[in-house]
Amino acid sequence: MHDNPFRPGFGISPPTLAGRDALLDEWREVFGLGAWSPFRAALVTGMRGVGKTVLLNAIEDAALAHEWTVVHGTLHASLIDGLEHDRLPAMLAEQDAAAVTRDLTGVTVAQLGGLQTAVKAQYEREPRLESMLGRLVELAEARGTGVLVSLDEVAKESLEQLRRIAIAVQHLQREDRRIAIVAAGVPASIAAALDADGLTFFRRAQQVRLDTLTLPETRVALAEPIRGRGRAIGDEALERAARASEGYPYLVQSIGARAWEYTPSTREITTDAVQHAVEVAHAAMGESVIVPALRGLSSRDRDYLLAMAEDDGPASTAEVASRMGAIPGNAARQRSRLLDGGIIVAPERGKVDFAIPRMREHLRAHPHDAQLGLPTRARETFRD
Ligand SMILES: Nc1ncnc2c1ncn2[C@@H]1O[C@H](COP(=O)(O)OP(=O)(O)OP(=O)(O)O)[C@@H](O)[C@H]1O
Ligand SMILES: [Mg+2]
Repeated sequence: MHDNPFRPGFGISPPTLAGRDALLDEWREVFGLGAWSPFRAALVTGMRGVGKTVLLNAIEDAALAHEWTVVHGTLHASLIDGLEHDRLPAMLAEQDAAAVTRDLTGVTVAQLGGLQTAVKAQYEREPRLESMLGRLVELAEARGTGVLVSLDEVAKESLEQLRRIAIAVQHLQREDRRIAIVAAGVPASIAAALDADGLTFFRRAQQVRLDTLTLPETRVALAEPIRGRGRAIGDEALERAARASEGYPYLVQSIGARAWEYTPSTREITTDAVQHAVEVAHAAMGESVIVPALRGLSSRDRDYLLAMAEDDGPASTAEVASRMGAIPGNAARQRSRLLDGGIIVAPERGKVDFAIPRMREHLRAHPHDAQLGLPTRARETFRD
């Protein structure tokens, strides 16, 4: 009863992965026998907290369920180094019995300094990444399966790493080998990857834009974990919780977790519990999601958001520009950067709205969060 099923956080798989079944089926087809699918190379994008990482986790689980080999990596400057010198040799040592016994024939382990060395010796030819991936694919194909390369956190700073991996995968795919690749990142990073030299491969990849959950999907994401653990939630309470989350996956988990905790030993999660949970979860959005999202922006970008926050709903781009004291065309840079960053959306021509729930309310309540560098309210109390 006390064991909270909800998982507010980043990269932590939820108890019910709602609304992604149809998408996952596309990958199951890739991992199923013989099927060719455009999802063999895919790019997943969407705003912060929409569920990119947990989708990758689910794709990896589907691959493993079909006995595929999974090479997972988070993009950063030394990813390839780690793959070449540590992870891939370890995976090969585990899978490639032939390589180990062949290399060890007539030589003692001590002479070679351990299995790592033996495996390394066999895959020394350049480029190492490509040959090691190639061998992993060969081993997987011998079992009737393949290799999935899954990369998270695509970022401008590590496009070179992405490029090298993409080239290796592309090469194997051209030879019709059973290897699939999926990479995820916020829209700005994915756009940078699509523009970069040497990454044209991804322009032909399947683009997957993750969106927030629909209202029915949100109800499932909340109700299933509760009922699955033997507790109950009435329709009214469920409806309130679902609507307050706006389908934003992070908030779904956050509200669910707090509603569960309110009176953990009672069977029913009441509307009171939900009411309390929504308040706490909304207040916590600032620290956990909104402030971190604002941190990476320029002060001009933040001014744009502050100008947007004056409206109760979608704002007109011309209005926003005039509030910023810019001539209309001049705010277009901020607009496109914020769109790419997954911070705002364009619901219709000439309009912009916040992508992340509670950002409007947060900026109104804490305008200084958007104006780092300006005096805060606390400092003002020490004036004159
Ligand atoms: N389909 C879903 N159903 C229910 N909860 C979900 C779903 N997708 C994600 N979540 C929850 O939302 C939160 C954020 O998910 P995740 O970390 O995957 O987002 P992300 O898009 O990778 O974010 P970031 O851009 O910061 O990397 C987690 O708490 C996760 O459990
Ligand atoms: Mg993530």
